[in-house]
Amino acid sequence: MQDFIQKLPKVELHLHIEGTLEPELMFELAKRNQVNIPFNTPEEVRAAYQFTNLQSFLDIYYQGADVLIHEQDFFDLTWAYLLRCQADHVIHTEIFFDPQTHTARGIAFETIINGISGALTKAKQELGISSHLIMCFLRHLSEADAIETLQQALPYKDKIIGVGLDSSEKGHPPEKFTRVFQMARDAGFIPVAHAGEEGPASNIDDALNLLGVQRVDHGVRCVEDEKLVQQLAETRMPLTVCPLSNIKLCVFDNMQQHNIVELLRKGLCVTINSDDPAYFGGYMTDNFMAVANAHPMSHSELAQFTLNAIEASFISAEEKSRMTSEVTAYLSNFRAA
Ligand code: HPA
Ligand code: ZN
Repeated sequence: MQDFIQKLPKVELHLHIEGTLEPELMFELAKRNQVNIPFNTPEEVRAAYQFTNLQSFLDIYYQGADVLIHEQDFFDLTWAYLLRCQADHVIHTEIFFDPQTHTARGIAFETIINGISGALTKAKQELGISSHLIMCFLRHLSEADAIETLQQALPYKDKIIGVGLDSSEKGHPPEKFTRVFQMARDAGFIPVAHAGEEGPASNIDDALNLLGVQRVDHGVRCVEDEKLVQQLAETRMPLTVCPLSNIKLCVFDNMQQHNIVELLRKGLCVTINSDDPAYFGGYMTDNFMAVANAHPMSHSELAQFTLNAIEASFISAEEKSRMTSEVTAYLSNFRAA
């Protein structure tokens, strides 16, 4: 199973680039940029990654991002993630970034976007990995702040396919961002949002109805509303589920309790993703392995997670068809061998 999962072509749809900052790179950048961090070794950083909920993670995650200052830093961060993609047979990835985390510290929008997209271009050319970028609004900040961020993004519209919504879900429901999502949709950005991670199933309904999202990030609390589950299955509305993240942030007690396989078998378009792999203990292969170890599953069910991700991605119909063929060929070659 390990070998099948390792080499299975994968598509990632829920990945925060700031969440790929490994402690070693954090130290290197802290030194390079003369930023103080409250740790003495990368091991000390890892030991601090004991979270009790989403907020306890976010506090340490935003602090970690302080070492990112120059375009080269954003490039190095993104390139390191893309090398992980190569190792894990990720053929396409749709990446979130949080501009407000950086612009609030005086970093120019241009610095962030040029660093990240420089690495994405190089990965397409040298590694054959395709990608899209999605800009997230931080939901603990105001809608006015999000609108300002949307305006800063307009000159870079060709580099950003969509807008998302992340950070603290409790106390910051989708309705707070109705206007900025309308503006983003009018400007041609594809909307997605985190909903139903720590917040109730009604946040998923509201993300669909008030924000018009085309994918729901996490969405695992949909099971609290039977009618919603049925609707998600019928409409094939994608959920970008992050198994290791959900365990680390105590959304489920353990992987046996996780509902991703139950949702797959109910016909929902669920996908496997790594969210913030440097903080949650694993990249794409690790997430697939963790689910497979806790839930006995067939090879074709495992491959279905990739087929769902291709269906849920924002690539062209031609690219979807090419990637689908790649996965079905992999599955039949594996069976023949
Ligand atoms: N939820 C909300 N905000 C986030 C997450 C998440 O899983 N990861 C990074 N920012
Ligand atoms: Zn996330």
